[in-house]
Amino acid sequence: MAITIKKLIQYKQQQRPIVVLTAWDYLIAQLLDDSGVDLILVGDSMAGVLGYQNTLPISLEEMIHHAKAVRRGVKQALMVVDLPFMTYQESVAQAMHSAGRVLKETGAQAVKLEGGYPAMINTIACLVQAGIPVMGHVGLTPQSVNQMGLRQQGKTEAARNRILQEAIALEKAGVFSIVLEHIHPDLALEITQKVSIPTIGIGAGSHCDGQVLVTSDLLGLSEKQPPFAKVYTNLREAITQAVDEFSQEVREGKF
Ligand code: KIV
Repeated sequence: MAITIKKLIQYKQQQRPIVVLTAWDYLIAQLLDDSGVDLILVGDSMAGVLGYQNTLPISLEEMIHHAKAVRRGVKQALMVVDLPFMTYQESVAQAMHSAGRVLKETGAQAVKLEGGYPAMINTIACLVQAGIPVMGHVGLTPQSVNQMGLRQQGKTEAARNRILQEAIALEKAGVFSIVLEHIHPDLALEITQKVSIPTIGIGAGSHCDGQVLVTSDLLGLSEKQPPFAKVYTNLREAITQAVDEFSQEVREGKF
């Protein structure tokens, strides 16, 4: 049965952990969906798959192009697409235009955007009122890499409190779920207990309502993974080995 936003909220109430992974094309999306992943995110971390150094250069056109391919592979999971850097921060009108395009052109059910109080609250409330479901993202927000680096966030009492208040404000603004990235597990636990929507952790300990990994990290395909990403297999090695074998057979006239 297809996963809905309502179902994800029920999963939190039932304490059933939510499985989230990222996808960037049809084949990966199909494999994740067939495995029963609950939510498939077309994350702007796909920038790494496209050879960018961080998430800042990726465009809305690139996100939409890949999201369309992902859509063709997803039958059951809830599909969410990241709004890339500077396609929603400028104004409510810009956010509405970008999010509207994502939903209309890709068939995704929701968008995700980074940041919280006060910057994004009005924008999120307007998107939600217009019928666009929004997933929030606080803690380490990679689109702000030039301000915060890639360090764990919420280390001082004030910073910790700010992230907690952001999460509470995001829920009030109407997000259906929040990604908590690279914060201390105790803070993730506190947020998870204080909000009634599912929290999805990455580098935030095991107390969130669900967990997300970047699939190219999980598969050992990324050039380098963040320290908190668990690598389950080494596809770089497997691909290199297969390509070397093929090359050798061709060169020896065996193929
Ligand atoms: O872009 C992405 O893949 C993300 C996840 C790390 C949550 O935002």
